[in-house]
Amino acid sequence: MQAAQAREIFDLLHDDLEAIEREFRDDSISTVPAITDIGEYLRAGGGKRIRPALLLLGSRLFGYAGRSAIRLGAVVEIIHTATLVHDDIIDEAEVRRGRPSANTRWGNSKCVLAGDWLYMQAFKIAVQERNFRILDLLIELTQQMVEGELIQMESLGRRVTLEQHLDLIYRKTACLFSVSMRLGALLGGAGEEEERRLGEFGRSVGLAFQIVDDVLDLTASEDELGKPVASDLREGKLTMPVIYALERCTPGEAELIDAVLRERNFDSVPHEAITGLLERYGAIEASYEQAARYAEQARRAICIFPDSEIKRALLWMPDFVVARTS
Ligand code: IPE
Ligand code: IPE
Ligand code: MG
Ligand code: MG
Repeated sequence: MQAAQAREIFDLLHDDLEAIEREFRDDSISTVPAITDIGEYLRAGGGKRIRPALLLLGSRLFGYAGRSAIRLGAVVEIIHTATLVHDDIIDEAEVRRGRPSANTRWGNSKCVLAGDWLYMQAFKIAVQERNFRILDLLIELTQQMVEGELIQMESLGRRVTLEQHLDLIYRKTACLFSVSMRLGALLGGAGEEEERRLGEFGRSVGLAFQIVDDVLDLTASEDELGKPVASDLREGKLTMPVIYALERCTPGEAELIDAVLRERNFDSVPHEAITGLLERYGAIEASYEQAARYAEQARRAICIFPDSEIKRALLWMPDFVVARTS
C-alpha cells in the first residue's frame, strides 16, 4: 500500500502520539519496582499504536484538540497492553514485538498482577474525565475482551463456524477499535448517529485488522511479525483461512488440519501440507477479500462526514490495515 499515506497519517498525529507516549510512561510508574519495570518493558517494546491513532482521528474529526484525547489515547493503549500481557500468559507465548514476552522474563504470576494493575491504572485515568459514558464503554469493552479470551480458550482444538469466529474476533479485537473511535467521537461532542457511525467504522476496521493478522500468521515471516508464525494452529486456534478451507476440503484434508489442532505441532503433518491445502482452496485470497469487504464497510460508515484532512486520513486507515505486512 500507500506507505507514504500511512506515514502522512502518523505525521499528522505525531505530536499527539508522542504526548500519549509520555502519558503512558508517567502512568505506568508504581512505588513497587516490579510493576514499573514490567510496564516500562511493555511500553518500550513499541507497537503500532493504532488504537490511540484511531481515537485521535475520531476526536479531531469534530475539531477536538484537548488534553482528554491524550489521556484517553493512553487509556486505550494501556488496556491493549494489559490484554497482551494476559494473552501471552494464556497462550504461553515466548515472543512479542520481536523480544521475549514479559511472561518469559518475569514469569506468569508477576505478569498477571502487572496486567491487573495496568487495567486499573487505565480506569483511574479514565475516571478523571468524570463521564459515566466513558466508563460504560470501557467496562463493557473489558468484559467483551475477557469473554472473548474465555470463549477462545474453550474452543481451542475444536472446529468453529464462521459466525462463531466473527463473534470472537469482534470481542477480542474489533470491540477495542470500535470503542477507541466512540471515545474520540464523545470527546468531540458528536451526536448519537455520528458516534454510532464512528463505532461502526472502528468495528469494521478491527475485523479487517484481525483477519489480516490471522492471514499473516500463516503467510509472513517471524521477522516481519515479531512473533512466531503459524502460532494460531499450534495454539489450537482456527482462523478464517482455515475455516474457509475446512468448509470446502475433502474429509482426508480436514483430518490433516484436525491433526495439527489436536497435536499442537507440525510433527506428523508438516506446515507446508497445511499451506498447500489453503492455497488449493484459495483460502488466503478469500480471507483478504473478506477483509477488503470490511474495509469498504468501514469507509461507507463515515461517508456522511464532510471532506477534510482528518476524514481522508480515516478513509486510508482500512487500506493501511488490509495492506500491512507486519
Ligand atoms: C496485537 O495487536 C493483538 C491483536 C489484536 C492481533 P497489534 O498488532 O495492534 O499489536 P501492537 O500493539 O502493534 O504490537
Ligand atoms: C490477541 O489475541 C490478543 C487480544 C486481543 C486479547 P491473539 O492471541 O489471537 O493474538 P496474538 O497472536 O497473540 O497477537
Ligand atoms: Mg496470543
Ligand atoms: Mg490469544
